[in-house]
Amino acid sequence: MLEFPYNTDCDLLGKFKIDTEYDIVTVRQVIRQYAKDMGMGIVDQTRITTAVSELFRNMYNYAGGGEVLIERGEVESHNALIVTCMDQGPGIENLELAMSDGFTSGQGMGYGLPGTKRLVDRFEIQSVLNEGTTVRIMKWK
Ligand SMILES: Nc1ncnc2c1ncn2[C@@H]1O[C@H](COP(=O)(O)OP(=O)(O)OP(=O)(O)O)[C@@H](O)[C@H]1O
Ligand SMILES: [Mg+2]
Repeated sequence: MLEFPYNTDCDLLGKFKIDTEYDIVTVRQVIRQYAKDMGMGIVDQTRITTAVSELFRNMYNYAGGGEVLIERGEVESHNALIVTCMDQGPGIENLELAMSDGFTSGQGMGYGLPGTKRLVDRFEIQSVLNEGTTVRIMKWK
């Protein structure tokens, strides 16, 4: 499994699997509730919820599903909600291309990844061909 370096202590809030369309809806709601509990306003709740929906949909479409880790912790003096999406799918051949507006390898619009990046405060992506993809996003409260 791909991993990101951590320089902070975080509390694990939950760990979920995304196997079905139903999981996308339910885990998205769980994340909205955590954002609300942290005191995020409706606009930020919607931003993080939209962002994770795109990542879940990518895991579901391209990797047949994956895992989601939800954490909360202090990152660079910010109170952060951290969502890590991990899959063991085919990986992304060209990350720079995948991150550009309008690129899709399938039938999508190609705005999922670049749009997600614009909605959050931190966006990190790792991908290895034939191993999988991990995306970690953070939203400050
Ligand atoms: N988890 C993943 N595993 C493998 N490939 C991925 C994954 N996520 C994204 N990709 C690749 O990156 C491309 C760009 O992803 P992005 O979400 O930006 O657009 P899209 O899914 O094609 O369209 P949209 O999200 O707008 O419906 C995808 O077309 C796909 O080739
Ligand atoms: Mg997408």
